[in-house]
Amino acid sequence: MIVLGIESSHDDTSVALVKDNNVIFNYSISQIEIHKVFGGTVPEIASREHYNNFYVILNKILSNTKFKDELKNIDAIAYTEKPGLIGTLQMGKLFSFALAHKLKKPIYGINHLDGHIFSVLLTDNESEKEKIISYPAIALVASGGHTNLYLLHDVNNKELIGQTLDDAIGEVFDKVARNLGFGFPGGPIIDQIFNELKQENKLNKIHFNFSKTENEFDFSFSGFKTQVVNMLKQGKETNKKQIAFFFQKNVVDYVMKIVNKSIEKYQPKSLILSGGVSANSYLREQFLLAHKNVFLPKKSYATDNGAMIAKAYIEMNK
Ligand code: KG4
Ligand code: ZN
Repeated sequence: MIVLGIESSHDDTSVALVKDNNVIFNYSISQIEIHKVFGGTVPEIASREHYNNFYVILNKILSNTKFKDELKNIDAIAYTEKPGLIGTLQMGKLFSFALAHKLKKPIYGINHLDGHIFSVLLTDNESEKEKIISYPAIALVASGGHTNLYLLHDVNNKELIGQTLDDAIGEVFDKVARNLGFGFPGGPIIDQIFNELKQENKLNKIHFNFSKTENEFDFSFSGFKTQVVNMLKQGKETNKKQIAFFFQKNVVDYVMKIVNKSIEKYQPKSLILSGGVSANSYLREQFLLAHKNVFLPKKSYATDNGAMIAKAYIEMNK
């Protein structure tokens, strides 16, 4: 099956062509540099940027004769329907419907979170063996907007067994980095510091308390940020890089405590990690240790992209 995937739920404009599990092209334009100065995404600016970026990407595709021809052979167009920013989603929907009309192809709305889950199956290499998820599976979607833990009974039957009650995990990485004065987006910056300091053996351990939730599979991350703010206020911990290091260590250990509990209870045949935060090196490492059949997205498909939207459609309509 050949599907064109279109993503615009947040600050990435992306159009991709996916054949089965293989990404033929994936053109993305990130708006991070534009929103950086505001310390977060400005929805109104994001919508206008998507408008321009779709135009740029479409011209890129049409200027490549091979890709232009491939468009005639697609089976369907899949676009991100929800969740996301209302205005940016609307831009993607309008663009997708116009294209579907022009190409005379069927069009389907996809849940962005399904896109993240099935992003783990994407490859860049046609000769790579197709990966197959065995069910039931446990899937964690860890991004800037969500921290959802699912029990996938089957490809089209997912049960939400836990979610964050306050901040999303990516959001808390971003907030902690901002408080420590490291800039935006915080996840990759803190991860880099973590890897720098990992080699040192003279770190003074910094303790973090884990929040308790009524449902054992729910998460609560805002306490991590409060603890960092308090450390800074009290002036007890002055080494900001060490705070970042132990924040990452503790927040990941906390997530793994919950994920491991869910593995114990549901005995899944596969374990999936996805979403922007799945790029985190320590989280990836810990997932690989947690189960014998782990699925992680390639780092290039961890953050929002059109290929994962196309892949979700393909996987759920095989
Ligand atoms: O999935 P995504 O691209 O967009 C949303 O749908 O939110 O996720 C973006 C989030 C940001 O909060 C960013 O800080 C976080 O993913 N992130 C990371 C890393 N790379 C990106 N968090 C921790 N470690 C990373 N290496
Ligand atoms: Zn996302």
